[in-house]
Amino acid sequence: MTTALHWSYLVAAVGFILALAGLSGPRTARQGNLVGAGGMLVAVGMTLGAEHIRNGGLLALGMVIGVGIGVPAARMVKMTAMPQMVAAFNGVGGGAAALVSVSDYMSHGGGAALSSGNRLAVMLGAIIGCISLFGSVIAFAKLQELMPTRPITYPGQQMVNGVVFAAVLAMTVGAILGGRIALLGAVCVLCCGLGVAIVMPIGGADVPVVISLLNAFTGLAVAASGFTLQNTVLIVAGTLVGASGTLLTRMMSQAMGRSLANVIFGAFGAVVTATGGAEGGDRSVRSTTAEDVGTMLAYSRRVAVVPGYGLAVAQAQHTIRELADLLESRGVEVYYAIHPVAGRMPGHMNVLLAEADVPYEQLKEMDEANPMMPQTDVALVVGANDVVNPAARDSPGSPIYGMPIINVDQSGQIVFMKRSMRPGFAGIDNELLYNDKTVLLFGDAKDSLTKLVAAVKVA
Ligand code: TAP
Repeated sequence: MTTALHWSYLVAAVGFILALAGLSGPRTARQGNLVGAGGMLVAVGMTLGAEHIRNGGLLALGMVIGVGIGVPAARMVKMTAMPQMVAAFNGVGGGAAALVSVSDYMSHGGGAALSSGNRLAVMLGAIIGCISLFGSVIAFAKLQELMPTRPITYPGQQMVNGVVFAAVLAMTVGAILGGRIALLGAVCVLCCGLGVAIVMPIGGADVPVVISLLNAFTGLAVAASGFTLQNTVLIVAGTLVGASGTLLTRMMSQAMGRSLANVIFGAFGAVVTATGGAEGGDRSVRSTTAEDVGTMLAYSRRVAVVPGYGLAVAQAQHTIRELADLLESRGVEVYYAIHPVAGRMPGHMNVLLAEADVPYEQLKEMDEANPMMPQTDVALVVGANDVVNPAARDSPGSPIYGMPIINVDQSGQIVFMKRSMRPGFAGIDNELLYNDKTVLLFGDAKDSLTKLVAAVKVA
């Protein structure tokens, strides 16, 4: 490898690290993304220019197809469909890593010409890549509702998965010691099945966490490919993806108040959804009109907007900003209280509100927002449910017990904007809907917010 190539890989690696630093905050995320893409461009460009390329035509064709599908897909994807987009891209990455491993094994006399260390790297790339590819396919299908989103379970499922995993381990040892191609083939087939089996019992709304985990897997598979191909930048990039994916998975599970084991093995939603929603019984709620809420907001001093999944579904981010601007122009202080797992993907609300150019200083993370709640006149809960459900704080028996929440029940008045009495993702009733301080403004969030803007103008 030439010195220039070494230096370019160093530049690319620094670009990836700076990209991750940039992506850790909403202000710098766009810039971070560009820096990462720049690093990738340097790495790919220099590799193509410096290495001896065989099958250049085939390579060019692959790149044209990839760009032809990837660019329009990324431009057209709706924000609510972002998790499945990540699943698709992630799966392709895992599959590519597995193919690199298989092709390397085959081109070295069915593994016979490889050292044990190289065989280990090949096997790891193949195992993790296949699990990641097929796990991502199922995750995509669940999120896209091409198959049932509920957990699909059967008795003894974990035992069967355990036996298959043990068989994979035994065959892997055989392939490393004996260098046999048939064992590699069998391991790949079993791991494709394992990928499916691991994601099947996971409920649709937990799938984003699993995608993050599979993303970490893909990173490790890519790092293994880097060892196989002796390519430094692949090792660095793969390790960074593996590490950041693992951290993100951990942070998401923590923010949901659940262990990763519970997300993966707990089949969340299988039982709860069946009973949830009925708990409200015959109790009544107080529904209200946009005119009444408009007057309430216009004469408040401080209003907290608590956005959730429904805001994304309704695509109401621009309308909520319009309402907030209008209130601010009347002297009302408005802030947005952002729960870390509001919506269905990490940073969902931040991305959504950034799209509407909401000023960053109005965005308050949960820990900053909660102490402000007792001094807040109105909490406007827009399409959020679980992230404000006091059961997570007060009811040890609740499936979401332990999840930190935004304490809207400590504000002066609470307005819930939702379409019906249906529960949120966790499938459990929310006591707060029946609280004396609560009123419900039923309807699609965008329609209701448009009516609120009109109501505040005449208040
Ligand atoms: P949810 O608890 O899912 O509640 C969403 C609410 O939005 C529902 O009450 C729904 O009620 C309402 N809604 C849906 N469409 C609407 C529309 N067009 N207009 C108005 N309202 C609408 O959402 P959340 O509070 O944001 O909580 C997120 C949940 O997802 C948490 O349980 C979290 O653990 C889970 N989760 C999050 C992530 C990440 S990383 N964010 C990952 C996995 C799981 P109606 O149907 O009655 O309208």
